[in-house]
Amino acid sequence: AGHVLAVDIGRERIRLSVVDLSGAQIASSDERNRCRSASSLVRTVRKLAEQLLESADRTLEDVVAKVVGSPGVPDRGNRALQHAPNLPGWGRKGLLDELEAELGAGLVVENDANLAALGERQLGAARGANSFVLITVGTGLGMGIVVDGKLFRGANGAAGEIGYLPYGHFDEATLLSGELSPPPGGMLERVSAARSVVELAVAFGMEEPESAREVFDAARAGDSKALRAVELIGVRLAYGVASVSAVIDPELVVLSGGVGRNGDLLLEPLNRALRGFTPLTPRIVEGELGEEAVLSGAVAVGLENAQRLV
Ligand code: BGC
Ligand code: NA
Repeated sequence: AGHVLAVDIGRERIRLSVVDLSGAQIASSDERNRCRSASSLVRTVRKLAEQLLESADRTLEDVVAKVVGSPGVPDRGNRALQHAPNLPGWGRKGLLDELEAELGAGLVVENDANLAALGERQLGAARGANSFVLITVGTGLGMGIVVDGKLFRGANGAAGEIGYLPYGHFDEATLLSGELSPPPGGMLERVSAARSVVELAVAFGMEEPESAREVFDAARAGDSKALRAVELIGVRLAYGVASVSAVIDPELVVLSGGVGRNGDLLLEPLNRALRGFTPLTPRIVEGELGEEAVLSGAVAVGLENAQRLV
């Protein structure tokens, strides 16, 4: 019988799951990503896949469909993953071929946020939703767009790369002088993902938080400096949601990722800010699949592809 291998490559963790063609999970693993280079990451994925399959008395030969979710946009021309700033070397030419050489034929590589959207639609917070977006905020910021029941990728697969939404005020004098430069605030990923949670907390006087999670924990415990940082992240994300809403008119916005999944702590300031500057205020909910969203989407795509192959 055939199997599907699903892989979620994240900056922090590498998750894998093997299911049979009925969708029943046979084995899964969740490891820290310690890789410093693209080559070691590619080799590690293969090693983890082999270990996992072996633990279930299977080999890569038993797998008919392999789906890898990763930050970035698959570039079929250069066989690379573009726009994955948090994975060094991921943009190099031929990277997708290297991955295929390790994992073998039948490989599909898809943007992580896109898969998370499909996962939440299949099993989670977006069940029954036909036009919605999933925004993931963690080390990076990304989005999966489902329109009329289908993933919307755009001309180059980069639809949903909202990390590149401009944030902040343009210096109009500079623009008029002909010098084009990004707005001083930067791009949305730069000002509202995990790194900024820490930076803001430090700016507000919190003593040496080491991670965004630490800041959220402190905010939950009532630390006023941490709370201010979290509130400001909510406001910044509201700008992103406002832009997305104006373009997509989603019936639902699903928030995912380590920063995104912080309940009312984040949802309240985000909703408040949103209502403060736009009449287009979609329902925003937290994902239900937690850290499993990308993997669930990968399994769903893998099962679909397997059906076509067998
Ligand atoms: C990448 C996106 C990805 C997001 C979440 C961003 O840095 O550009 O492609 O979806 O991180 O991992
Ligand atoms: Na996307």
